[in-house]
Amino acid sequence: MFLWGTATASYQIEGAVTAGGRGPSVWDTFAHEPGRVRDGHTGDVACDHYHRWQEDVELMDGLGVGSYRFSIAWPRIQPDGVGAPSQEGLDFYDRLVDGLCARGIVPAATLFHWDLPQALQDRGGWMARDTAARLADYAAIVAERLADRVPLWITLNEPFVHMALGHAFGAHAPGQALMLDALPVGHHQLLGHGLAAQALRAHGAERVLITNNCTPVWAASESDQDVRAAEAYDTVHNRLFNDPVLLGKYPDLSAYGVTNLDVVQDGDLSIIAQPLDGLGVNYYNPTRVAAPAGPAELPFEDVGITGHPTTSFGWPVVPDGLRELLTSLRARYGDALPPVYVTENGCSQPDDLAADGTVDDQDRITYLDGHIGAVRAAMDQGVDVRGYYVWSLLDNFEWAEGYTQRFGLVHVDFATQERTPKASYHWLRDRLAAHPEPWPAS
Ligand code: GAL
Repeated sequence: MFLWGTATASYQIEGAVTAGGRGPSVWDTFAHEPGRVRDGHTGDVACDHYHRWQEDVELMDGLGVGSYRFSIAWPRIQPDGVGAPSQEGLDFYDRLVDGLCARGIVPAATLFHWDLPQALQDRGGWMARDTAARLADYAAIVAERLADRVPLWITLNEPFVHMALGHAFGAHAPGQALMLDALPVGHHQLLGHGLAAQALRAHGAERVLITNNCTPVWAASESDQDVRAAEAYDTVHNRLFNDPVLLGKYPDLSAYGVTNLDVVQDGDLSIIAQPLDGLGVNYYNPTRVAAPAGPAELPFEDVGITGHPTTSFGWPVVPDGLRELLTSLRARYGDALPPVYVTENGCSQPDDLAADGTVDDQDRITYLDGHIGAVRAAMDQGVDVRGYYVWSLLDNFEWAEGYTQRFGLVHVDFATQERTPKASYHWLRDRLAAHPEPWPAS
């Protein structure tokens, strides 16, 4: 059965950052540093989902989705990142999972959606190899408690974005700007993925996935330089995190002056290339790159895409990019590509609450219709797509942009926590009731 779902992440919605003995995460630290997040916003309260989860599960039930992708806050389970788990932390997810199951909604749990316990950051975070082993310990703890009811597990969310924005450019927690020296963060996350996948299976997980952020890469021109720049970007954004997992090897990084990743030890790649039950793919937009104009640290320059509508973020809306991406994954990996789950897709829009209490987000409806149509087209072209999750159920804490980018099917008034389903919520509910599988774009 095709899985329709909505997706969220712990730090973006839960709030209640000290409840139940939760320890601080790197995002708590980062958001409280002046100048890091727009308007000084933090996830301290967010959507207060920790206290309002029942209302949020009812919203999903009303929408008619068959699955919910959420992430578990590691610092709720192990406040110091190591050792015995917090029962209160486990109890929270236990209740949530029971609430989902009671409504026939399949829980899909992500282990790590960027909120590393601060205590592990203090020991080196993802620059340290040991963090991979700690992820596996944590995976074992949560699977032991929840795998009897959670069939679908995602080890990591977007290790590329976490490496690039968190460790190379410093725009996300933990705020490191290491540029190419951040590459070990990629390897240690992948090693953590492999070890966690083993731990999840050993504790009864039925299906194990990794979620990668993927983008079709367009060269700005047909010149050799621009084509090479596009290949270099494709390598670091897409191949660096898909090739080791699906093929058991790293792509050629010579465009970055890297001939040998010295953090890779014997045996690591076979751990990383665990058999998977699916590849989670998050898609937002294609990326267009050119060769850098002058001497530059990186072998590409993002030159942006024009001629398409844009979201509030300014991201180009290119539904066919999702078809292009899915079919190119199939072409690149062939039978090594497991079933694909689109684990995030969505857009930020202004989404003002009108005086009559409605939110008429027609642009989101157009966005979703186009992208679901692109999934349909990819399936018709032979890609085995098993699920589609809208980012996001609720407006939430959008990382460095704070609460200024609204991605939800449900509007959240952050002063009162009032939830208001938008027009897109009602539209999707009606479409899902009529279509068990993705439909062609209208
Ligand atoms: C993804 C991320 C989500 C969400 C989304 C929209 O990269 O996994 O947490 O923020 O982007 O920007």
